[in-house]
Amino acid sequence: MTKTISVNLGKRSYQIIIGNKITTSLAKHIKKLGLGNDAIIITNPRVKKIAGPQLISALKKSNISCVFQTVPDSEKSKSQGIAFRLIDKISRYARLKQPFIIALGGGVVGDLAGFVASVYKRGIPYIQLPTTLLAQIDSSIGGKVGIDLTCGKNLVGAFYQPRLVFSDISFLQTLPKNEIRCGLAEAIKYGLIKDKALFEYLEKNYQKALGLDENCLEYIINKCVLIKAKIVGQDEKETKSIRTILNFGHTIGHAIEAAGGFKAYSHGQAVGLGMLAAAEISSSLGLLYNPEKTLDRIKNLLRNIGLPVKIKGLNLEKIIKAHTFDKKFIQGRNRFVLMKQIGQTLIKQNIPSGLITSAVRKLV
Ligand code: NAD
Ligand code: GLY
Repeated sequence: MTKTISVNLGKRSYQIIIGNKITTSLAKHIKKLGLGNDAIIITNPRVKKIAGPQLISALKKSNISCVFQTVPDSEKSKSQGIAFRLIDKISRYARLKQPFIIALGGGVVGDLAGFVASVYKRGIPYIQLPTTLLAQIDSSIGGKVGIDLTCGKNLVGAFYQPRLVFSDISFLQTLPKNEIRCGLAEAIKYGLIKDKALFEYLEKNYQKALGLDENCLEYIINKCVLIKAKIVGQDEKETKSIRTILNFGHTIGHAIEAAGGFKAYSHGQAVGLGMLAAAEISSSLGLLYNPEKTLDRIKNLLRNIGLPVKIKGLNLEKIIKAHTFDKKFIQGRNRFVLMKQIGQTLIKQNIPSGLITSAVRKLV
């Protein structure tokens, strides 16, 4: 069944439409939003092959013209070079047009395409068509768009909301199992920060999710999207310490990604490890309820899903150095999202560096 969830942000409000095999109805929504007739689809070659034909036929039926701009299939596409080459190509193509952008792909394409949309001509409309589990439950929602610098993740970017998020669950059927695992890491995050029942559901049903059971995936996506949409509606620009909790596991997670040159660990894998580090820090500070059992439950779920619970092949010092580039560092003071118990977080500043190092060391 198709579900619509709203992100309520006044004039910047938009809908997230979730359903199975719904791409045929996309053009209707584009027309309703008045986005125009010239779509620029930013994607990568793999996703173009999988989802491109369906998308072209859905748009053509409604006389929406489209061109593809493909970028390499890698986190490295979230870079200054790729972003500005894209902008250059778009500006040549769109000289006499009023285009809108379609981000077709996972979180890499979504973040990059959203960033391009936010800066080209000081902002043109874009919509998100997420095709990974991670993108359907997280990255396509909330308007955080950006690119990486070599020293750290997402350090250049903006809050720029899409006009629509359109999640066709059927696209997940071609997703490699490893990518389902990465999406499940972010789903575990939602359970840990806000929804104990979701965490328990994942403990019981992770095999179904890995087997691409559509009902199970739909359940997980709906739950996560509801949480994210509500949080973004309350704190769009992360100024009220509400949205901050969505970064649970990301401070050390981003550091692991950067320390591994954005190759050794994918975002989802790194977030899984980052959540373990955050739970360890919470335990060391005496904040975590029933710490041994809670840590075991998180570790077991990650392990069962097939996500790493140990950091291999990376240098501890490199990770610790990389984490100081995190956006949550303000004037040299760190800020961590920590856990009280499953479903409940708290934010703490000035965590002693020795404690952070020893939490990460336990994972190395
Ligand atoms: P990704 O975009 O690299 O996609 C993972 C892989 O899946 C790629 O190889 C891609 O080609 C492939 N793929 C995509 N759709 C497919 C399909 N339907 N079938 C087969 N293969 C498919 O990775 P991701 O995990 O989706 O996203 C990670 C990125 O998202 C990171 O850059 C992270 O920083 C970002 N992110 C952003 C936010 C946000 O709020 N903006 C939140 C979380 C993560
Ligand atoms: N992924 C963190 C956020 O959207 O705020």
